[in-house]
Amino acid sequence: MKKTKIYIVLGIILFLIIITIALVASTLGIVIRKSKTETKNVECNEGALVCSISSNDLMKHLQQLQNIADESNGTRAIHTKGFNQTFDYIYNYLTTNTNLKVQKEYFSYMKFILNNTPMLSTNINGLETNYTYGLEHDFTYLRNSGSSDFNTPFQVTSIPNFGCDESDWLNATSSSPVGDKVALIKRGNCTFTEKSLLAVKYGVVGLLIYNDGTAPNRYSPTSGRVDQNITFPALSISYQIASRLMNAIQNVATNVVVRIHISTTKYPEPVGNICAHTITGDATQTIVIGSHTDSVPEGPGINDDGSGTATNLVLATNLDRLFQTSSYPPYKYRVKFCWWGAEEVGIVGSGYHVSQAKYSTIPGERISDYLVNLNYDMLGSPNFQMGIYDGHTANFSTTPPKAIPGSIRLTELFRNWFIDQNLPYTISELGGGSDYASFLAAGIVISGLNSGISDRKTKEERDYYNRLLGQGNGGVANAEHDPCYHQSCDSLANINPLGHEKLSKAAAYILEYLGRHSDLRSYLYPSDEIRQLEKISTYRSTEKDNVQYVFYRINDL
Ligand SMILES: *[C@@H]1O[C@H](CO)[C@@H](O)[C@H](O)[C@H]1NC(C)=O
Ligand SMILES: *[C@@H]1O[C@H](CO)[C@@H](O)[C@H](O)[C@H]1NC(C)=O
Ligand SMILES: *[C@@H]1O[C@H](CO)[C@@H](O)[C@H](O)[C@H]1NC(C)=O
Ligand SMILES: *[C@@H]1O[C@H](CO)[C@@H](O)[C@H](O)[C@H]1NC(C)=O
Ligand SMILES: *[C@@H]1O[C@H](CO)[C@@H](O)[C@H](O)[C@H]1NC(C)=O
Ligand SMILES: *[C@@H]1O[C@H](CO)[C@@H](O)[C@H](O)[C@H]1NC(C)=O
Ligand SMILES: *[C@@H]1O[C@H](CO)[C@@H](O)[C@H](O)[C@H]1NC(C)=O
Repeated sequence: MKKTKIYIVLGIILFLIIITIALVASTLGIVIRKSKTETKNVECNEGALVCSISSNDLMKHLQQLQNIADESNGTRAIHTKGFNQTFDYIYNYLTTNTNLKVQKEYFSYMKFILNNTPMLSTNINGLETNYTYGLEHDFTYLRNSGSSDFNTPFQVTSIPNFGCDESDWLNATSSSPVGDKVALIKRGNCTFTEKSLLAVKYGVVGLLIYNDGTAPNRYSPTSGRVDQNITFPALSISYQIASRLMNAIQNVATNVVVRIHISTTKYPEPVGNICAHTITGDATQTIVIGSHTDSVPEGPGINDDGSGTATNLVLATNLDRLFQTSSYPPYKYRVKFCWWGAEEVGIVGSGYHVSQAKYSTIPGERISDYLVNLNYDMLGSPNFQMGIYDGHTANFSTTPPKAIPGSIRLTELFRNWFIDQNLPYTISELGGGSDYASFLAAGIVISGLNSGISDRKTKEERDYYNRLLGQGNGGVANAEHDPCYHQSCDSLANINPLGHEKLSKAAAYILEYLGRHSDLRSYLYPSDEIRQLEKISTYRSTEKDNVQYVFYRINDL
């Protein structure tokens, strides 16, 4: 009995040991398997800002912006009800739902209204020709054009070269005075605005800027803008019309006149920026996150830049909410979330903000307090790429050297997150066409994301995105990243929720990483690297040669 008892006891112990081992093993197995599936897609560690980002929250804001556009003739452009309602929506949302300190800032921008369909005719030795208005036709207006009635015939004079240099105008003057004439000028070398300022100086009564016919897509008239203050009519005309006029003018005996009918209304009207900053964190070390509120007149701008606007709102709201909990320690740095106005007419709102910051004496509002600008402009392109601004492509002759090493570090920081997440990414060149350019030109480190504009997705890119996102999620080869760029179809249907959510998560990750950094200033402005760069830099600090200016040369020429 005793012996059998012992055997039974031993048997039970053995049984228990086996069970324990089996349990431990299976638990370990589960843990291992679980951590394996997690490393495949660890989007966030519990409690991190990234975990708080959801597509639903983003889409809710985008729906509101779409509703606003629907009630405002399909646009949220500056000087429309749609812009003002977007502005109020952001302001009210932040003041109602967060403890952030929300501030409005207004600047003046010329409101421009085209009152009629413009008319243009030429008369060469008594032969009258009327032209067809429209971008695909003979001529179009330039924004900020003054008015003119059709009854007055003007003589035409051709300005040599590009009309960018005083000598061009003086040369035209020597044969026949420019004053009281309409100046005919080729596009190129300097901006339309610069040409128009010289036109003012030399007293012209009208301005015709023509396309140069150097490529098949450089015959039609182009849209553009001239100086806000000009009072004479300004049109963009096709290469064909210009050639006829030039040929006629060459013969001094030929009488060449044009008649222009255009009616415009212009007056300065305020446009606003909104910034909302955390009440914790060192004001003299501020992280600025920006997106723009305005759309183009042609559409509701839900991707451009409703998507960045929504991301910025979700980041602001969720960070503020985390700061209310005891488990999420405040950042060492102030975070300032900004929504810029008038980006689409030349990066005006952020430019105004930066120019004010240069003169401010209030801690937290001075340019020296700004450590970095993260820019989110277009994050929801339907045929998206996950584009990271490439700090390496900052133009060395137009960017202050101190902004370059940090901007390169942030490119790498973003890239590493995409790699860790097993997500595809695309490194995209800094063209200067968004609000970060205002900061970069002022020597502030920048970074940001962009989901792609009018360029086409290649087959290689599609395959790469398919491989990492799953077959079918990689998008469409040979199609534009955003086929509705600056068009009326840039609506809620023009958003890819998957891409938008991933890019917003990347934005959340970077914000938290920077917020938790122990010495952000040294990280973003490594003095040794900056000194090395300064030695080889060709940067010249002039108002004209900054990144923003260069962008407008490219786009306005
Ligand atoms: C709405 O847009 C159309 C087309 O651009 C324009 O003709 C019309 O005047 C606009 N209406 C208002 C109220 O702005
Ligand atoms: C938009 O707001 C500005 C600034 O408050 C105001 O001057 C303007 O009249 C408003 N425009 C419209 C169309 O509501
Ligand atoms: C050009 O348009 C004006 C105004 O509509 C008209 O009076 C004139 O007859 C037209 N000229 C020609 C040649 O069609
Ligand atoms: C101005 O005209 C003179 C004489 O025709 C010519 O030599 C010179 O190159 C012209 N200058 C410009 C800037 O076109
Ligand atoms: C190009 O424009 C600049 C001013 O922006 C001017 O100084 C230069 O002479 C122009 N060059 C030509 C070829 O017109
Ligand atoms: C336009 O004119 C206004 C008023 O005369 C002036 O304050 C402003 O600086 C001018 N703007 C430009 C770009 O010249
Ligand atoms: C950098 O800017 C300069 C000055 O505007 C320009 O000439 C040059 O082409 C730019 N370089 C690049 C790589 O874009």
